[in-house]
Parts: sequence; structure tokens; C-alpha cells
Amino acid sequence: MDFVEQLKSSVDIVNVVGEYVRLRRSGANRYMGLCPFHNEKTASFTVHAVHQFYKCFSCGAGGDVVKFVMEKEGLSFYEALKTMSERYGVPMPKRSQYADEDSKVRGSLLAMHEAAEENFRANLQSQIGEAARGYIARRGLAAETVEHFGLGYSDRSGRALVRLFGQRGFPVAQMEESGLVGKRQDGSLYDRFRNRLMFPIHNESGKIIGFGGRALSPDDEPKYLNSPETPIYKKSHVLYNLHRAKEAVRKEDRVILVEGYMDAIGVTAAGFRNVVASCGTALTAQQVQAMKRHADRIAVNFDPDAPGANAAQRSIDILLQEDIQVYVVELDGGLDPDEYCKERGATAYRNRVENAQSYIYWLADRARAKHDMRSTQGQIAVLEILVPAVQKIPDTLERLKLAIDVAGYVGVDQANQGAVLDAFKRAAVDRKEKLVESPASPLRHDERMLLNALCWEIRNCALK
Ligand code: UTP
Ligand code: MN
Repeated sequence: MDFVEQLKSSVDIVNVVGEYVRLRRSGANRYMGLCPFHNEKTASFTVHAVHQFYKCFSCGAGGDVVKFVMEKEGLSFYEALKTMSERYGVPMPKRSQYADEDSKVRGSLLAMHEAAEENFRANLQSQIGEAARGYIARRGLAAETVEHFGLGYSDRSGRALVRLFGQRGFPVAQMEESGLVGKRQDGSLYDRFRNRLMFPIHNESGKIIGFGGRALSPDDEPKYLNSPETPIYKKSHVLYNLHRAKEAVRKEDRVILVEGYMDAIGVTAAGFRNVVASCGTALTAQQVQAMKRHADRIAVNFDPDAPGANAAQRSIDILLQEDIQVYVVELDGGLDPDEYCKERGATAYRNRVENAQSYIYWLADRARAKHDMRSTQGQIAVLEILVPAVQKIPDTLERLKLAIDVAGYVGVDQANQGAVLDAFKRAAVDRKEKLVESPASPLRHDERMLLNALCWEIRNCALK
């Protein structure tokens, strides 16, 4: 989210104006008071709580909360943002696009990225791109896919961009700031990306803000070299391919989240346009919010190895906090999404995505695999893992329904039901809190036990 939007959604105009004007309610969402911008005896100044604007019907003043602070305090737009960011504790990005000098630098950096992309693309088609073209062919990427993703090749000289930027008159300081150029101890400049397959990374409005560069041979380390954080590239805010995917994401009301550049590309090439990649970093709340603006459902499809599963588990926690419906796609054969699409085909992949289970079953499987389900301890451990996850479901009915499902799914064995239930009860009693009686319903023991545990957890939370 853009900082201005973020600021505006974090402050309530009624409170801000309320610091300057005595407001009284005059409708479900409307407030009135004496206009602070002209002298009046009867109130003609209104603030709308839902639409978050103010308007004086007498003098005509009106606008949003930022405009109000600008007018009232005699500040520029940028200064008003800064003031509010400090006053209301919404951290402002250091290099804001609203400061004049900063916005110029950002403009230059974007231009440099565009020039770099052109250079990389031209390289790929030229004589020096032969090895890269061979690599692309071995990876089975069609020409249209290469074109669609703007793939390119950074030459091995290490001087191409330095020269290009010099010719175009970009100052050395900006070259360095772009992250595309580095400076040696002796002061000489070099291209950051050399002899790599280049993947441009775009922001949501489609501007190139960074690159990932893949090594062409296994002994070239690291496998992927990425742009560093710059004034235009904030890794924690960006999802690879979101600007292309968002239309399809909206249409299907589902976003497929994969780990790698090559996964996003392979899945897209198989005909799924609604895929984005987190690019090897831990998923952040900002990234989740970016997805949530376009869809309610997310299908997490990370690599089948242990790091992928751990990343999936961490991502689920963040996704649940942001209130999005999470499904986990599991691919058999130890294949990653790219490999799966290539080896099994689009129909098989669609099947996996459409039959993806709700995250809770995936968590349950994982938890069961880690514990001895024949022991009471093991069963308790598994339920303890699942109860907090169930509890994160905001809707009460849905939460209870899921709790019942999960209890059945975990399948606490008959002999241990009483003991497991007792253990939960004991824990509850130890806390000197009354366990909520479960309704006299035809629930099975294991179901009732999980419901009890759930109620207990909810109470704990409420009491905190
Ligand atoms: P992977 O190693 O799974 O890469 O890392 P991949 O995209 O599937 O590529 P191929 O198919 O092996 O060529 C997943 C993501 O983690 C980040 C990259 O964003 C990569 O796409 N990564 C990985 C790095 O940033 N640096 C690395 O050295 C490795
Ligand atoms: Mn991979």
C-alpha cells in the first residue's frame, strides 16, 4: 500500500478534526461543528466518518484528512504527511516519493532500471547471449514466455551498465544508489550482475524496480543474485509477478503463491495467470495485504523440501493474522511447481490447486507426522498445535465447524479419549478457570474435547 493510503487508513478523520473542532454527531456517519476555516456562529462544517472527508457548506472548504492538516497548519503536502506520521505513529518511509528531491532520485532510478532491462534483453538476442539462450532452451522456456517475463542476459564484462549510465548522464552516486552498480575500494565502478539470466522485478503498477539474476552454471555462486534494497525496491512489499497476475487473481478470487521466479514462470506458462512468488524471503504482512486486495483465497504452493514446508508453516501464521482463506497445495513426487507443471501437465496441476486442502489439515498432517499418535502425550501435543490455528479463524461458527472437523480428522483413538480430555480439563483447572460445558449434543468425545479446549483457549485470550 502506498504510504498516503496507509496513513489515511490508520487515522480517523473524525479524531484528527476533533483535535481542532468540537464535533457533534448529526447522523449515522456524519459529524458537524463550527468551520475552522472561516468565522461562523451556526455549524455548517461536516465530517463524514465513512467517506473520511470534511466539507464546509458555507465557505466551501473540503478534502481528506491530509488536506485538512495542510490547511489548518499551513503545511506542504509532504510536511503534512511527515507531521501526521510522527503524531499518529505511522512510520513514514525514509525516502518518500513526496519529497521533491527524493521523487527526482526515484525517477532516475526507475529510468536506470528501464535502461538496464533493455540492455539485458538486447544481450539475450545478440551474439553474447548464446550460452544464456542455450540455458533457456534446456529449461524448456518458450520464446513467448521469455518475452512475457522480459528475461534478459547481463554480459560478463562487468562494465556495460556503468558505461550506459555514464553515457546517459546519471551521476555516480545514483548509479550506486540503484543497486545495479557497485564501487570497488579503488573507486572504480562495476556492474553488479555479470553473466546471469536476468529476471526483472516490477512493482504493482508495472515499473521495474529490481532484478534477480540466475547463475548459468551450478558452480557460479550464489544461484540467484538479487538487487539490494533501494529507494524504489522494498523487498518486504514486493511480490514477483503481482502486476501481471492481479487481473486473473481477481477473476478467480484466488492467488497461487510459490517460492521462486522459475516457479511463477513455469506455472504461468502452463496457463495459470494468477500466480505470484515471494522470492525466497519470509512472507510479510505487507505482501499478504497486497494479495488480499485482490482475492480472498490463497493457495500456498511451496517447494516440497523441508525449507519449503517450514516457509509454508510460517507463511500460514502471517496469512491467518491477515484474515485470508488459506489452502495448501501439495504436489507428489517431490516436484516443485515448475517441475510439476512440466512433468505432469496443466490439468494435473489444476487438479492439485482446486483440491488443495484448507491449511488446517496440512498442519494436522505435519503435526501427526511429528508425534506418536498412539500415546496420550502425542495426541495432546497435536491438538495443542492445532487449537491456536483453529482459533485464528475470526468467524465463530466457521471456527467451531472447523474444530469439529479437525477433531475427527486427527482421530484421537478411542482408548485415550478420556485421558486426553482429562489432561485438557486439568490444565484448565490449574488456571482456576471454569471449563465451558459443552452442549448436550450428539458430539463424539473427541469433538467435544476439542471444543472444550477451544473455549478454554478463547477464554484465556479474552482474559489476557
Ligand atoms: P529456488 O532455489 O527454489 O529457485 O529458490 P527457483 O526459482 O526454483 O529456480 P530454479 O528452478 O532452481 O532455477 C527459490 C527462490 O529463492 C530465491 C530466489 O528468489 C528463488 O527464485 N533465492 C534462491 C535467492 O534469492 N538466492 C539464492 O541463491 C537462491
Ligand atoms: Mn525452486
